[in-house]
Amino acid sequence: MGRKPKTKTERQKNEEAKNKKPNENKMIPRLRGIRDILPDEYRYWDLVLNKAESMIKYYGFLRTETPVLENVALYERSTGKQTDIVSKEMYTFIDRDNERVALRPEATPGLVRSYIEHGMFSLPMQPVKLYWIGNLFRREKPQAGRYRQFSQIDLEIFGEAGAVADAQIILIGYNLFKELQIDAQVQINSIGCPNCRPEYVKKLIEYYKQRPVRNKLCPDCKKRLIKNPLRLLDCKEESCVNARAAAPQIIDHLCEECRDHFVKVLEYLDELNVVYTLNPFLVRGLDYYNRTVFEFWSEDSEQGRQDALGGGGRYDYLVEYMGGRPTPACGWGIGAERMILKIKEKNIPLVDANQPNIFVAQLGEASKRKAMNFFEELRRRGYKAAQNFVKDNLKAQLELANKLAVKLTLILGQKEMMDGTILIRDMESGMQEVFDFKKVYEELDKRLK
Ligand code: HAM
Repeated sequence: MGRKPKTKTERQKNEEAKNKKPNENKMIPRLRGIRDILPDEYRYWDLVLNKAESMIKYYGFLRTETPVLENVALYERSTGKQTDIVSKEMYTFIDRDNERVALRPEATPGLVRSYIEHGMFSLPMQPVKLYWIGNLFRREKPQAGRYRQFSQIDLEIFGEAGAVADAQIILIGYNLFKELQIDAQVQINSIGCPNCRPEYVKKLIEYYKQRPVRNKLCPDCKKRLIKNPLRLLDCKEESCVNARAAAPQIIDHLCEECRDHFVKVLEYLDELNVVYTLNPFLVRGLDYYNRTVFEFWSEDSEQGRQDALGGGGRYDYLVEYMGGRPTPACGWGIGAERMILKIKEKNIPLVDANQPNIFVAQLGEASKRKAMNFFEELRRRGYKAAQNFVKDNLKAQLELANKLAVKLTLILGQKEMMDGTILIRDMESGMQEVFDFKKVYEELDKRLK
């Protein structure tokens, strides 16, 4: 019999980490699963975030920010102590005031806290529609589209129980993917309410406890059977996917109110031409949901193979559970990195709204000063201009203008300075013409029409 390998205690691990000194001469690299976003990639971020914000604002949502750091208990109570996010993935530490602090792993609990703390239930405009864009942290196993620091676009409606709210948020996500030319499909289910779900969960446990079914379960699911049986349905392990094939479906066990609510959500979606797939195994990995749950999957994803682009649902009991007044609510979160990956995969061309169409070039110290002022005036008047005033060589400046694919280059040299003129070069034809400097804006407007 070999000896059981010794596992290190948290304290030993902490000591080891403290003593691990970076090699003095070597660069200290970034942490695993945490990325830099370089300027080239930011073009995609601009596209995604601008589109998302204008879409979400159109439906009357207002932006909110919440802190990166929150009390650990906030997530334990809302997301759920047993969930992977809280029990395995959350970054936590004890600060110098002995406070248990978490780096936010999801946005909804912070938004709920903020809604309660600022008494938003008494705002004149109801329901309260909030959106949020920011970084989240989960210590997951890094891979493409799964990072330890990532960004979400998140929206929530507080104070509306009707199915119209569920349908509207699904529609907004659906529209967003469409406008970004990302093929996404809506997967939807209802997981009932505290009235009907316990009966269903009993049946589910009975089903999974049958020996032939139980034997197929992965070790994690064997634990889930006791702690969180609903999660057995969305385990991605092949044996668990096989095991669930004949499992009872919650849709057949909903109470009348939950069934009516779900039918209405689907009717609205039909009316709005939102294509969806009923997925009886979709339960979502967070504790607070009731009734409608949904995910946005990319066209090529099968459950188990690829992570969702976004997900959300209704959570009518969470606000009260977190210390607020009873407030029905629903919302979703969509991962920005995953959207960007899809756009890159499909080679969707980027159109840059700020693409310059004018380049200002200069030759000589005096004309450089005039050109700098001229450039400022172009900016104030709303022209999209580019420059590189640190270069003195005209050829190098024209090369840059070419790279930027501008339509016109405006050249100020010594001669033009003396004459009060400016050269306008059409970059496509290479034709250059001299104009009275005072008339330059008139000429630009004519040519850039
Ligand atoms: P979630 O399903 O945990 O839901 O996350 C939503 C989305 O965030 C995922 O579908 C994915 O696109 C992105 N995401 C999650 N983890 C990672 C990761 N490690 N790397 C990159 N992207 C990731 C929630 O967070 C809920 N708070 C959504 C919600 C809002 N429900 C109601 N309101």
